[in-house]
Amino acid sequence: MRKGLLILTIIVLITGGIIAISGAGGDMPPADADKLWSYMTTDNPYTGWGFWPGHEGIYPGKSPHGAYLKVYANTVALKAAHEGKPMPDGAIIVKENYGKDKKTLMAVTPMYRIKGYNPEGGDWYWAKYGADGSVLKAGKVKGCIDCHTVQKTKDWIFTPAPMLQDY
Ligand code: HEC
Repeated sequence: MRKGLLILTIIVLITGGIIAISGAGGDMPPADADKLWSYMTTDNPYTGWGFWPGHEGIYPGKSPHGAYLKVYANTVALKAAHEGKPMPDGAIIVKENYGKDKKTLMAVTPMYRIKGYNPEGGDWYWAKYGADGSVLKAGKVKGCIDCHTVQKTKDWIFTPAPMLQDY
């Protein structure tokens, strides 16, 4: 019996290891607003990611987003941006929306690419959080999709990165 348990434990450990290694971003959160928030603020805090290329630091935004913005991107997204490639599965672009005083964080609006999640919405998982992480909108959010769809040919992204001119 004990031997059986030991073997089972070993199998579980090995399988878990294989999943963790082989899965492209095996530790990526599912399409769940709370899990995405805890991933991007605790497990892999976005404030430690790089800024979207060409938009380092805070800069003026347009309606409906904040008067001032900061746009961060995770490693997967930054790599693709630098290579001029479309955003792969697991890419996350996080936008912080600030008020006119450039200091008050009004909302955090990420877009998170999950392959196969919603082809009509660019396979992006859209979300809007309050500064405290409260979920205001999440998932296949019509408002986000309807507006960002005009950028369909640019991976649904408005903000051009200097090296992305021709994709
Ligand atoms: C009415 C149009 C509109 C709507 C609605 C909208 N956006 Fe945007 N979004 C923009 C524009 C324009 C930009 C470019 C930055 C700027 O100048 O404000 C942008 C930028 C972004 C960015 C940075 C990457 C990029 O595309 O440039 C993210 C992330 C983002 N929006 C997420 C969202 C989410 C999530 C929602 C829904 C909760 C949403 N947006 C709703 C127009 C919109």
